[in-house]
Amino acid sequence: MSSKSKITIANANVEFVCDDDTISRAAVRAGLGFPYECNVGECGNCRFELLEGDVAYLRENPPAITERDAQRKRYLGCQAQPKGDCTIKVPLRDHYKSKHLPRKVTGTLTQAIDVTHDIREFRFALSEPLKFLAGQYGLITAPGVAGARAYSMCNTGEDGAEWHFQIRKTPNGAATGALFDRMKTGESLQLDGPYGMAYLREDAPRDILCLGGGSGLSPMVSIARAAAASPALKDRHIHFVYGGRTPADICGEDMLRVLPGYAERIHYTPVVSMADDPASAGWTGKTGFVHDVAEALYGEALAGFEVYFAGPPMMAQAVTKMLIKAKVPAAQMHFDQFY
Ligand SMILES: Cc1cc2nc3c(=O)[nH]c(=O)nc-3n(C[C@H](O)[C@H](O)[C@H](O)COP(=O)(O)OP(=O)(O)OC[C@H]3O[C@@H](n4cnc5c(N)ncnc54)[C@H](O)[C@@H]3O)c2cc1C
Ligand code: FES
Repeated sequence: MSSKSKITIANANVEFVCDDDTISRAAVRAGLGFPYECNVGECGNCRFELLEGDVAYLRENPPAITERDAQRKRYLGCQAQPKGDCTIKVPLRDHYKSKHLPRKVTGTLTQAIDVTHDIREFRFALSEPLKFLAGQYGLITAPGVAGARAYSMCNTGEDGAEWHFQIRKTPNGAATGALFDRMKTGESLQLDGPYGMAYLREDAPRDILCLGGGSGLSPMVSIARAAAASPALKDRHIHFVYGGRTPADICGEDMLRVLPGYAERIHYTPVVSMADDPASAGWTGKTGFVHDVAEALYGEALAGFEVYFAGPPMMAQAVTKMLIKAKVPAAQMHFDQFY
């Protein structure tokens, strides 16, 4: 659509070039702290005000934009592409600056491994190494599917040669349909990243709690793997609570069991939410929702943890509410909502 538009952020007196990209992604690639979260038009975090110029949306009618936004010339940075030079207003924050600047690369599928009946690990070798922080995500453009989808990596990104994703198949999902049903090893697609602020804080002198549900497995596995290997965190405990509907959804223990310190300082608790379902017959582990089980297990100790969590918005909201009640400071909570 656009080629080399100049974007001026008037309130910060900053300029950057947006070259066939969306405005917030071009800003983050240029090392700026442009606010964002989901990158798919759902959260509204990347809103900016258009003062001069014109933009077009990559995704038609992105869900996070309201009529009021449209009236006030507010747009979503992650979906807006400039039609020529633009002047905008948006509060920049250092928090959103990327340690490893995101780039677009080609990923070639080297392996696809079933994790459960509906979660598969897709391993891509990158055309050029792209490092990431444990817990971050990439944007996958699945062949034949309009719009990139966000998926969190489950490996650790010190060398960035490969990105591995644990992806849950969405019934009738466009991107997951393409990946699960049509993508063959040896085939390639576009990867863009790394993105996301829910990465491992190696400088946080606290025990770690990872809470994951369903599709939220991948970033929690990445965090646990990186934390287990981090010299700075060698004395910290890593608690991992993972929830599924029935025992068939439960997974992750084998990935933790191979880490140094499993059982001594790495602790895994699986939770089943549909305990009365016939498919859960014989389950003797914890039952209920992940946030309730975490609250029952850790109680007042929660305020002393660095907490990482990932999953659908309803789960993320329930966990946040529980953590606020438990007086966990906001600075100790790190999460992505999986829209
Ligand atoms: C930060 C983040 C990390 C995530 N990590 C994981 C993960 O590790 N594992 C996992 O299984 N899932 C993850 N997800 C969810 C994943 O991105 C998809 O929503 C899910 O796989 C369903 O995609 P689908 O295309 O199969 O389903 P569909 O029902 O076809 O698509 C639904 C999703 O696609 C988005 N979408 C639809 N049209 C467009 C478009 N034109 N442009 C851009 N987006 C569009 C919607 O907002 C919605 O999120 C994550 C989501 C986010 C936001
Ligand atoms: S980052 Fe743009 S809507 Fe979420």
